[in-house]
Amino acid sequence: MYVTNNIPGPGINVDDFESVYTSGCSCTVKCSECACTRGSANYINDCIIEEKLSVPILECNPQCTCDQNCGNRLVQYGPLHNLEVANVGEKGFGLVTKKIIRKGQFICEYAGEIISIDEAQYRVEANKNNSMNYVLVVNEHIGEQVIVTCVDPKYFGNIGRYCNHSCQPNANLVPVRVESVIPRLCLFACRDIESEEEITFNYASGVANSVHHLSNTPCLCGSTNCLGYLPHNPI
Ligand SMILES: C[S@@+](CC[C@H](N)C(=O)[O-])C[C@H]1O[C@@H](n2cnc3c(N)ncnc32)[C@H](O)[C@@H]1O
Ligand SMILES: [Zn+2]
Ligand SMILES: [Zn+2]
Ligand SMILES: [Zn+2]
Repeated sequence: MYVTNNIPGPGINVDDFESVYTSGCSCTVKCSECACTRGSANYINDCIIEEKLSVPILECNPQCTCDQNCGNRLVQYGPLHNLEVANVGEKGFGLVTKKIIRKGQFICEYAGEIISIDEAQYRVEANKNNSMNYVLVVNEHIGEQVIVTCVDPKYFGNIGRYCNHSCQPNANLVPVRVESVIPRLCLFACRDIESEEEITFNYASGVANSVHHLSNTPCLCGSTNCLGYLPHNPI
C-alpha cells in the first residue's frame, strides 16, 4: 500500500511516534545559523551542503517563527517528480530518474512502517528464503548515544522502496527530522545524476557507520569496489 510518509508499525508506541516538537527557532525570515540548523545552513538553493550528507538534519517546523521560504525547509515539501520504477534486470525493479538531478538535490524518502528492533530481526529472519529484503536499519551516532531506526516499506511504502544498493552509489541516505523525533530517511544526490540513470544508495551507510555486515545476497551493483554481497547495518 502506498504511503507518502512513515507510519507506526509493530513494536512502536503510537504516542511516541506521533509526539511532535513543541518549540522551534525564533528567526524572522531566513534560517542559516539558528537553533534548527545548529550553527550552519543545511541547504543552499534547495541542495544539501556536502558536509551535511553524513549528519542528521533538523528542518524548521510549524513552531518556528520563520518564513515558509526560510531556507531550512526542503524534504517537508515532498519528493522530486520524474522518478520512475523500472525493471533493472536481475536486481528486480529499480528507481530511475527521467530528468537530470543536481548534486545535493533531495530525491525522495525511503518511507515505510517504522518497526522495533525486535520486529526488524523477526522480519529479516522470517524473510531469509525470499530474495527481496526491504528492512533498513539506520544507526545515528550522536555523541555517546546511538539512535537506531528500523523501517520496512515491504507492505506499506513509497517509491523509495524500489531503490537498489550500490557499493558506489549516486545518493546518500540522510536522517531528517521535521516535526517529529522519528527521522525521515531521505535520499540526496551525492553527485550529478543523468536522465535515465538508476538511483542507488549504500544499504550500510548509516550516519557515521563504519562496520559492514554482509548478507548472503550477491551484490550486482557492478562497481569496481563492490563488496560482493549486499551489506546491512547490524540489528
Ligand atoms: C529495497 S529492495 C529494492 C527494490 C527491489 N529490487 C524490488 O524489485 O522491489 C532490496 C532488494 O533488492 C535487491 N537488490 C537491491 N540492490 C541490489 C544489488 N546491488 N544487487 C543485487 N540485488 C539487489 C535485493 O533482493 C534486495 O533484498
Ligand atoms: Zn531559524
Ligand atoms: Zn526553525
Ligand atoms: Zn556492490
